[in-house]
Parts: sequence; structure tokens; C-alpha cells
Amino acid sequence: MASKFLLTLAICRLIVAVGLTLDPTELLLLGVEGQVSHDPADVGSASRDFGGLKTAEPLAVLYPASADDVARLVKSAYESAYGFDVSARGHGHSINGQAMTRNGVVIQMSGSKGTRLGLRKPEPPRVSEKFMYVDVWGGELWIDVLRSTLEYGLAPKSWTDYLYLSIGGTLSNAGISGQAFNHGPQISNVYELEVVTGKGELLRCSKEQNSELYHAVLGGLGQFGIITKARIALEKAPQRVRWIRVLYSNFTTFTQDQEYLISLQGRQAQKFDYVEGFVIVDEGLINNWRSSFFSPRNPVKISSIKADGGVLYCLEITKNYQESNAGTIDQEVEALLKKLNFIPASEFTTDLPYIDFLDRVHKAELKLRAKNLWDVPHPWLNLFVPKSRIEDFDKGVFKGILGNRTSGPILIYPMNKNKWDEKNSVVTPNESVFYVVALLRSALETGDETHGLEYLSHQNHQILQFCKDEGINAKQYLPHYTTQQEWVHHFGDKWTQFSTRKMEFDPRHILATGQRIFTPSFNPNKGASW
Ligand SMILES: Cc1cc2nc3c(=O)[nH]c(=O)nc-3n(C[C@H](O)[C@H](O)[C@H](O)COP(=O)(O)OP(=O)(O)OC[C@H]3O[C@@H](n4cnc5c(N)ncnc54)[C@H](O)[C@@H]3O)c2cc1C
Ligand SMILES: *[C@@H]1O[C@H](CO)[C@@H](O)[C@H](O)[C@H]1NC(C)=O
Ligand SMILES: *[C@@H]1O[C@H](CO)[C@@H](O)[C@H](O)[C@H]1NC(C)=O
Ligand SMILES: *[C@@H]1O[C@H](CO)[C@@H](O)[C@H](O)[C@H]1NC(C)=O
Repeated sequence: MASKFLLTLAICRLIVAVGLTLDPTELLLLGVEGQVSHDPADVGSASRDFGGLKTAEPLAVLYPASADDVARLVKSAYESAYGFDVSARGHGHSINGQAMTRNGVVIQMSGSKGTRLGLRKPEPPRVSEKFMYVDVWGGELWIDVLRSTLEYGLAPKSWTDYLYLSIGGTLSNAGISGQAFNHGPQISNVYELEVVTGKGELLRCSKEQNSELYHAVLGGLGQFGIITKARIALEKAPQRVRWIRVLYSNFTTFTQDQEYLISLQGRQAQKFDYVEGFVIVDEGLINNWRSSFFSPRNPVKISSIKADGGVLYCLEITKNYQESNAGTIDQEVEALLKKLNFIPASEFTTDLPYIDFLDRVHKAELKLRAKNLWDVPHPWLNLFVPKSRIEDFDKGVFKGILGNRTSGPILIYPMNKNKWDEKNSVVTPNESVFYVVALLRSALETGDETHGLEYLSHQNHQILQFCKDEGINAKQYLPHYTTQQEWVHHFGDKWTQFSTRKMEFDPRHILATGQRIFTPSFNPNKGASW
């Protein structure tokens, strides 16, 4: 009780003191087990993200030692007479400032800073071999979850392409990769959550218990609660992966094959485990980003294949296996490939340990970092496009708006809507199959304006405008809008439910204001200022 009072008091003083100098001793009164910092280095790192497009400095940063710390801070924000908001920050890999706030405190959920401060790590992953799940702290990175479950020969089923993302960060969106057609997105693979709501209550939730909160939080863009713990479904971990890429010049053939592959159900042996694909408009950068693939070991040169309209499509598939089954993997893959219509002799194959496959993008990250090409602005655009309009999208965007330079990889792969739980907050197109199109570009200052941020941002606008003009009902994934009217349109039929859930779980609009969906209920001028 006393510590709660002190916390509230300190925060109120903190708010009053904003604009003046903050007295560090105020923050010692907080009564949390973790640490509150307003060290410029901490505030600075909480004010940036991977997108590199926005900055917003919080009043302070909390490094929590437990879920109780998170609850204590949110409760004091909820009860505070002055009002301030609270943004959970995982690994800060958002594009548009979604984990930032100017009017409150950032809770740094991920990272080793807390440990360096001498704080204990909130909770290490705990595996249940018997029930095949792992309980993890909301700020845990997927790479660390993988490492701990592999010790038991187990692994989560559904992934993102890149593993240096937090549990809370991906579950607030969906978490998709080439396994989603089969297992659904990551949010379809969570048994239970522990959440701090916008009222500061610490609650467990699942399909059975507090189910409204559970479904609200999954894909909920951080609007309803802070995920402090998640129970993630596991499977027996494969030991190795056969990783294959094949090329197409005909978009119709390419998508027919992708859709065929994601329609395969039934026994493990009769389907691939991962289905993705990408568009090759610009040979240079694709090699730069994620390809040790087109290496001298693979004799086919992309440039030797005549592309129709200058655009090639690469289907990327994998088959997992155990070393004890290494004898049959060749035949299984061969049988599946026979059903596909790629360009003859355009097959690239490699074979590697499961963890190396899952962690593949990190290798690309290290290469880009070495060239100073990682910490650059990233005007990314991710869209879910309904299957019925993907041909139109190809003509208008890949063969149209993009021209011959994309400034980064363009992923495209289909998913089955029946693997997505409609009760969750995330919005997808109203068709049984839809594609994700991910334009993952990096802006560079090379003197050539077509590499620049302004040019790429303008292209993003053109693409969105094209969809609008053509009546392509695409939905943004990792959505970013600046007005509530656009959010209402984004959620469509789900808006009423989304805003009702907001009233119930975060009535003061304290949480994740960086998403800019709801106006803070206090200090609206400041809230609208960025
Ligand atoms: C290189 C790269 C590759 C990516 N690849 C994929 C991919 O393959 N598939 C895919 O689906 N996505 C991918 N993403 C997108 C990524 O999943 C999202 O940007 C995700 O939000 C990042 O997680 P984070 O921990 O960095 O979140 P942050 O940027 O820290 O936060 C994102 C949002 O979630 C909220 N939030 C953070 N933690 C919590 C929590 N514990 N509880 C509640 N809300 C919280 C924040 O307030 C914020 O609104 C990729 C991003 C990058 C940069
Ligand atoms: C692409 O393939 C489709 C279906 O097989 C075919 O109808 C079409 O003519 C092909 N397009 C080109 C440009 O070859
Ligand atoms: C790319 O397009 C530009 C103009 O649209 C053109 O000048 C250039 O030659 C093209 N480059 C290649 C490699 O096709
Ligand atoms: C989705 O599409 C189906 C069939 O096309 C239609 O009956 C239904 O009303 C649509 N649902 C929404 C939410 O738009």
C-alpha cells in the first residue's frame, strides 16, 4: 500500500516536473522491484525504432523485474489525477513509432539492460514436456524461446522470418511466416496469456477464462493490455531442413503452385512445411539482403533466365526432417516438386540444421550491419491482398508502380483464412485465401533519388491509392494510419467490437498510444502533436 502511494506520488511529481529538470531522487520512490531510468541513453533508445522514421522521447523508462512492476506502473497511470500513458516496448522493431510515447513511460520489456543493472531477469522460459508448451515472459525474444525449447527437443510451430522480435510484439500483430498456411499465425498457437490491462489488473486469460480479453489482446496492437506471459504450443523439433527455391516468369503459374501447396492437407510427408515466395524485380538488392543462396554452388544465373516483363517470381519451400529419416527425404521432396510448374533447371537446393534455417535473416542482418546498411530508414509496407485480386496487384504494382528498383526484398505468399481465429483482433480480407505482400525496403542516401526515403514513401502511397482506385480490398498488416477515420475503415465490421473492448480494458486510453488509434483521454493536444 505504502509503495503504491509512493509510486503514485512520484509519478505525479514526475508529470508536474516535465519541462523542468527531473530530480532523479523522485524516481527512487517508485517502489518497483525493477528500475526507472531517465538516463538520456535509455530515454534515447526508447525514442527510436527500426523504421527510423519517427522519434518521441518518453518521460522515463521502466526496466521491470516482474509482472507486478508492470501492473503497479499501469495502475498508477490509471489512477493518476494528472494522467500519463504507458507503452510496452519489446525489441522496438516497429516501423512507425508504435511503441513510443511522449506523454508517459516506456516499459522496456526485452533486453539485457535490466540484467546489467543487477536486476534479475523477470522469468526464464519454462517448458512442459508433458503438455508440449512453453511459458515465456512477454519481453522474451523468439530466438531465446527457441534456444530453450530445443534443449528439450521441442520447438514452437509458427514463426516469423526474423527471430529478434519479442513475444509481446509479434502477438500484438499476428506473427506470420511460411508455416502460417498450415499452423496459422503465431496468435493461433497461444494457449494462455497473462496480461496487465489498462486498469492495472494482472489477469490470466485463455479461450475458457476471460476469453474476451484473450481474443482482444491477440492481434490487438497493444490496445487492451500488456502481455507479461504467454503459453506457446510446441511440437517435436525437426533436426534438419531441406530448403528449396524455384523460379517462375509467369505470375499465374507461380500463384497456382503456391495455392496448390497451401491446399495440401493430411499426412506430414505429403506437404511442404513452409511456403513463401518473393518477387525479383531488382537482382542487386535481393542478393544483398538474404542470399547466400545464389552462390557459385548453384550454377543457374538469374540474369540468364528471360523474365516476362522483367519480373521473376521465386517460390521458397522447405521440408523438415529427422536425421533418422534422411534416407527418404530426397524422394519425398522429388515427389512434391514433380507437381509444380517452375522453369526447368531453375532449382536451388540447400540443406541445414533447423535452427540455422529459422535464424536465417539474422545472418543477413550481420552482413548489412557490417556495411552500415542496417540502421537506415525502413519505409516498409505490408498488405494482405485477397486472392481474387492478386493478379491485378501484380500488373499494377510489381509490373507497374515499382519500376525496376525495389530497394529491398518483396515477399509474397498465400495463407488459409480458416487458420485464423476471427475472434482475435487482427483484420484479414474476407476470402478463404489471401496473400501477404511485404515490401521490405531500405532508404539510402546515394545521390540517386530513387533510393531515397521520399521516393519510397511516395511509392507506398501510390500502391495504397492504386488498391483504393481499383477496389482491391487489401488490409494493412502491421497497420499504420494517422486518423481515426482510417482506423474505422481498416477494422470495418470489427470496429465496434474493437472500440467496445477498448472501453472495457483500457478506458483511459493509456496503452500503446503510439499506434494512434484512440486519442488519450487527457492532454489531447499533446497526444495529437506527432
Ligand atoms: C527485420 C524484421 C523482420 C520482421 N519479420 C516479420 C515476419 O516475418 N513476420 C511478422 O509477422 N512480422 C515481422 N516483423 C514485424 C514484427 O513482428 C513487428 O514489428 C513486431 O511488433 C516487432 O516486435 P517488437 O518486439 O520489436 O515490438 P515493438 O516494436 O517493441 O512493439 C510493437 C507494438 O507492440 C506493443 N507491444 C510490445 N510489447 C508488448 C507486450 N508485451 N504486450 C502488449 N503490447 C506490446 C508495442 O506497444 C507496440 O505497439 C519483422 C520486423 C523486422 C524489423
Ligand atoms: C501464364 O500461364 C497461364 C496459365 O498457365 C497461361 O494461360 C498464360 O498464357 C501464361 N502467360 C504467359 C505470358 O505466358
Ligand atoms: C530501369 O528503369 C529506368 C527508367 O525507368 C531505365 O532508365 C533503366 O535503364 C532501367 N534499368 C534496367 C537495369 O533495366
Ligand atoms: C464475406 O463474404 C461472404 C461471401 O462472399 C459474405 O456472405 C459475407 O457477408 C462477407 N462478410 C463480411 C464480413 O464482409
